[in-house]
Amino acid sequence: MAGNLDGILGKVVYSLVVVTTSVGGKPFGMTAAWVSKVSSEPLMLAVSLSHKSFTSSQIKEKGFLGINLLGTGGKAAAHHFGSQSGRDVDKFAGMEFKFSGLGNPILNQGTVAFIDCKVVRHMEAGDHTLFLAEMLDGCLGTELWPLAYCAKKFYKLSEI
Ligand SMILES: Cc1cc2nc3c(=O)[nH]c(=O)nc-3n(C[C@H](O)[C@H](O)[C@H](O)COP(=O)(O)O)c2cc1C
Repeated sequence: MAGNLDGILGKVVYSLVVVTTSVGGKPFGMTAAWVSKVSSEPLMLAVSLSHKSFTSSQIKEKGFLGINLLGTGGKAAAHHFGSQSGRDVDKFAGMEFKFSGLGNPILNQGTVAFIDCKVVRHMEAGDHTLFLAEMLDGCLGTELWPLAYCAKKFYKLSEI
């Protein structure tokens, strides 16, 4: 069986998020699509972040991460947090946010919800680090509809 594996993965729909953390009071964050619920009891998410991302190294240091679930009004935030590195710029400069109970930045706008997580384990998965994160708290955002992502394009959901 020979197939175009990238083409096949282009059929998978993701919900876009901005994964955040903070170290020494400094906020860090990056856009991510590869996030999924993996356990009900306790509630856990798997978050896959490139070894190259600065946010990934900061999360390893801190041991906590926040998931800002983007809404359809969060497309600009997805570009902003996904097109530059916290190594070079402060992505939170001029942006409205607050810190969660675990010290993770919560975006004030463009999100449907926020989830506060503790990293229980992380492991290498090829060129990415897979973080297993336990959900400890959360709150709803100002948007109603999640921002979907498929084959490098942004979508809003509609019921069929
Ligand atoms: C729509 C979109 C989805 C992305 N999904 C992921 C992802 O799931 N995992 C990942 O490691 N990087 C992903 N990225 C790339 C990172 O967001 C990007 O490399 C970012 O600049 C890393 O920032 P940092 O170095 O400050 O952590 C995505 C980017 C975009 C625009």
